[in-house]
Amino acid sequence: MINIAVLVSGGGTNLQALIDATKSGIISSGKIRLVISSSSNAYALTRAKNANIDTAVVRYKSANVEQDILKLLQEYSIDLIVLAGFIHILSADFVSRYPKRIINIHPSLIPKFCGDGFYGLRVHQAVLDNHEEFSGATVHYVNQITDGGEIIMSKIVPVCVNDTAEILQQRIMEQAEWIILPEATEQVCKLLLNKGE
Ligand code: GRF
Repeated sequence: MINIAVLVSGGGTNLQALIDATKSGIISSGKIRLVISSSSNAYALTRAKNANIDTAVVRYKSANVEQDILKLLQEYSIDLIVLAGFIHILSADFVSRYPKRIINIHPSLIPKFCGDGFYGLRVHQAVLDNHEEFSGATVHYVNQITDGGEIIMSKIVPVCVNDTAEILQQRIMEQAEWIILPEATEQVCKLLLNKGE
C-alpha cells in the first residue's frame, strides 16, 4: 500500500473526491495517511477529520515551512504527495527530493493556460477571454517548472455560451477534476508498487 499525503489550501472538493475514491475502491493501491493544509481555515481540514484522516497545518509565513512539511512526510512514511488545490509553489530543492512522487491537478488543458499566474478563476477567465471551445483539467507530475512536469492524465470539458469563469470552473471540477485526480492517483500508486517501492 502506498502512503499518500494530500496538500491542500482551500475547500477540498478534490480531497473529497480522493476520499470517496478510497471508499469506493477506485483507489485501492494507496491510502491517504495525512492531509497537510497551508491554511488553518481550510474546509478541507474538516473533510479530512470527518474521514478520520490525520491533519496538520503548516505556516507559509515561517521560513522553515518546507522543513516542517518534510518532517511530517517522513514521520508518516509518505511515498506519494498529491497537491489538491495547494496554492503554494514548492521549491526546486523540495521537489528534487520526491522525483515522480508529487502530482498536481491543474484546471486547464496543459500546456494551455498554465504556469506562473494561472491559478483559480484566472485560468477560466483566460479561457473565456481567448474564446476557447474547450478546456478541461490535467494531472501532471510536479517538477521544477510550474505546471511543467510530465502529463499523467487529462480530460476535455466543453466551454458553453454564456459561461462565466465560476460556471466553467464548476463544470471542469465536476466533469474532469473529481474524476481524473483519483484515477491518476491510483495509476501512480500502482506504478510505484510495481517498482517495488
Ligand atoms: C481546483 O480547481 C484545482 O484544480 C486547483 O485549485 C482548485 C481547488 O479546489 N488547483 P478544491 O480545494 O479541491 O475544492
